[in-house]
Amino acid sequence: MRPADLIRFKQSGQIITMLTAWDALSAAMVQAAGADLVLVGDSLAMVVLGHATTLPVTLEQMLQHTQAVCRGLSGPLERQPLVVCDLPFLSYQCGEEQAVAAAGTLLKNSGAAAVKLEGAEPEIVQVIDRLVRMGIPVMGHLGLTPQAVHRLGYRRQAEDPRSQDTLLRQAATLEANGCFALVLEHVPAQLASRVRQALRIPVIGIGAGDDCDGQVRVSADLLGLTPLQPPFSPALIPGRQLLVEALQGWVAAQRQPAGSPTSAPPPPAPDC
Ligand code: KIV
Repeated sequence: MRPADLIRFKQSGQIITMLTAWDALSAAMVQAAGADLVLVGDSLAMVVLGHATTLPVTLEQMLQHTQAVCRGLSGPLERQPLVVCDLPFLSYQCGEEQAVAAAGTLLKNSGAAAVKLEGAEPEIVQVIDRLVRMGIPVMGHLGLTPQAVHRLGYRRQAEDPRSQDTLLRQAATLEANGCFALVLEHVPAQLASRVRQALRIPVIGIGAGDDCDGQVRVSADLLGLTPLQPPFSPALIPGRQLLVEALQGWVAAQRQPAGSPTSAPPPPAPDC
């Protein structure tokens, strides 16, 4: 599958699914789950690297994680989910040259086929235009954009009519400048629905209601592994608790005195 093929999903009404992965183990699980796209999101800065925001993750770290994700995928390339990698903070905000070098580095040295970047300010739109013209597919990201946390916080975006009109205009600009899909994060459902209807490219929502062309989730949130669960992405299972209990069981079993009734029976003696 190529990034541009996603438009066919939208046209045929097939819901697009995208899940994050951060290493070979999680990528193999996401592929086994049947997701269409794997996102190496910069949320890994918080989920995996323990940072308080997504800002500190570097291009080198994103590359290393993307390479691990690609190694975790199996089977013929055309049957694998499409890998999209987030451009980290400051890898594309300082101008087109740097952005092409950063995105090119990711695509050249991993199996990722596209990059995602946040925002639609005029400078960002210029960067997107340049990347697309250089053959680098770009997924846009509007609404709650975590790299702008110090300006926007983590609250729901575009609540009033004026900011909704702005977001609609920005979404149209991203499409006009060549984005092949758009992530809409934590915005009112009726706005996401309007954007979906206005655009030809697929709108992939998270905390944006059901009327989107696709949905994306941070896998660690769905699996109940993250300490701070976003309100718009509830856990499917209490994963952290289940895993801790399994490990506690193992630790406790090791501490049982040998031969005690609860310790494992010895293996049968081999036949001679
Ligand atoms: O970094 C990430 O995981 C993301 C998703 C929340 C869409 O951008």
